[in-house]
Amino acid sequence: MIRRDGAYVSLWQDMPGYIPEPVSENSRHYDVVIAGGGITGITAGYLLQMSGKKCLILEAYTLGFGTTGGTTAHINTLLDTPYTTIIKNFSVNDARLVASAAREAIEFIKSNVQELKIDCGFEEVPAFLFAEDKKQAEELDDIYKACDQVGLNVRFAADLPVPIPFKKAIAVGSQAKFNPLHYIYALARQFEKSGGRILQNLPLKDATEKDNIVSLQTDKGEFTCSSLIYATHIPPGVNILHLRCAPWRSYAMAIKLTDDSYPEGLAYDMQDPYHYYRSQTIAGETYLIAGGEDHKTAHEENTEQCFRNLENHVRKYFPVQEVVYQWSSQYFEPVDGLPYIGKLPGGSENIYVATGYGGNGMTYSTIAAAILKDMILHHESLYKDLFSPSRIKPLAGFTDFIEHNADVVKQFVGKWFDVKDLDVLAGLAPGEGKVVKYDSQVIALSKDSEGQLHAVSPACTHLKCSVAWNLAEQTWDCPCHGSRFDPDGKVLTGPATRDLEIVELKTMSEQT
Ligand code: FES
Repeated sequence: MIRRDGAYVSLWQDMPGYIPEPVSENSRHYDVVIAGGGITGITAGYLLQMSGKKCLILEAYTLGFGTTGGTTAHINTLLDTPYTTIIKNFSVNDARLVASAAREAIEFIKSNVQELKIDCGFEEVPAFLFAEDKKQAEELDDIYKACDQVGLNVRFAADLPVPIPFKKAIAVGSQAKFNPLHYIYALARQFEKSGGRILQNLPLKDATEKDNIVSLQTDKGEFTCSSLIYATHIPPGVNILHLRCAPWRSYAMAIKLTDDSYPEGLAYDMQDPYHYYRSQTIAGETYLIAGGEDHKTAHEENTEQCFRNLENHVRKYFPVQEVVYQWSSQYFEPVDGLPYIGKLPGGSENIYVATGYGGNGMTYSTIAAAILKDMILHHESLYKDLFSPSRIKPLAGFTDFIEHNADVVKQFVGKWFDVKDLDVLAGLAPGEGKVVKYDSQVIALSKDSEGQLHAVSPACTHLKCSVAWNLAEQTWDCPCHGSRFDPDGKVLTGPATRDLEIVELKTMSEQT
């Protein structure tokens, strides 16, 4: 079973973890180091290694630990941010470029699957977007026109692959689906066969750039490289990108049906929050994969309820036999609708970043890997300027985009507390957590399934916003820029790189 960044395991992560090849060489300098072993990092590493660069992938946990292991793996040119929005925020030509980059990403994944004979259930299928009322139908007309304008193979559809009543629907051909971890494992193996190196369970602690050399600090000492890629979903440190990308969570389930009505295509409704459906066969078992109920990270008090809402929604339309897997996952929504791919803003010459994929991580990660490869190899890229992290897009409502009014809390001043007092004060049931005020301090308390209390400072180590308990995933999540921590404060997801401060708890007998 692959470890993941929460309590639930996804459909994809229920398999053995990746075991890197043993390496004889112990080099300390690389042409390119990639921080992050998800689909962005592995695809970029694969492309660069195959182009003759000597590459190292550093993964803080294990490959597929984060969002690549939690995606529902739709590979689209029909993107979550409608082309109507991309045209409005950019231009028709730019939207055409986005569509063509997405098309190339699907073709690239397909050619890898064919050439490397990757057994990852890759299938090309149409995608359907459907309206359930008049207002949505009007919006869908505009989306249809925009899809047509940017060159998508779009048509109005008379039928849907899902048994949901609808008013109007469009279909776009040649979209795709796959098992993302089978895919990245195969690319990672090829990366290693070509001389690339993977180190798991080794977080990048710090990176500094001087005289065109980037120095990297880890628990296994210093590495250096000519180029560093942050493929960590959001870069660490403090950066303008933390103000331009908002963290969101999405919920997913893999479900066995009582009959064979598993949808062939991909399907999306237009509700707010929206729902999405597809199917996947793994080891001879077919599952309906349903997702949705998205919300801004740390903005739902009862995240278990989001699963219940999703399940109730699915049961309205499908003959559910059993929910076999359920899991939630985090993504970053960019302010203007397009991801940020390129040089890290703030003067870095040799540090690159890719973030803000919204709900299209499989497509944009592949686009990102291709753009970053071209930039590092000094090749021309059609898409480099469009996705540049330094682009200026002041939009109406920008200042409201990121939740900055979250409480900012002071760093905890270390001292111990009586476990019994806190237990009574918090009144937590197993699995619950809450931030409490006690003896002029603010403490983040959670109780595990064994009834043991865990206490940490709620001050997020990124920029000190107060974290909130995620009941479903049993984590402390930060509403500001999406850092996540386990009940003992250990960093699961950046931008924070330091653990939450542990608050010492003692019993009365230990105090005397
Ligand atoms: Fe930035 Fe927590 S992630 S303050």
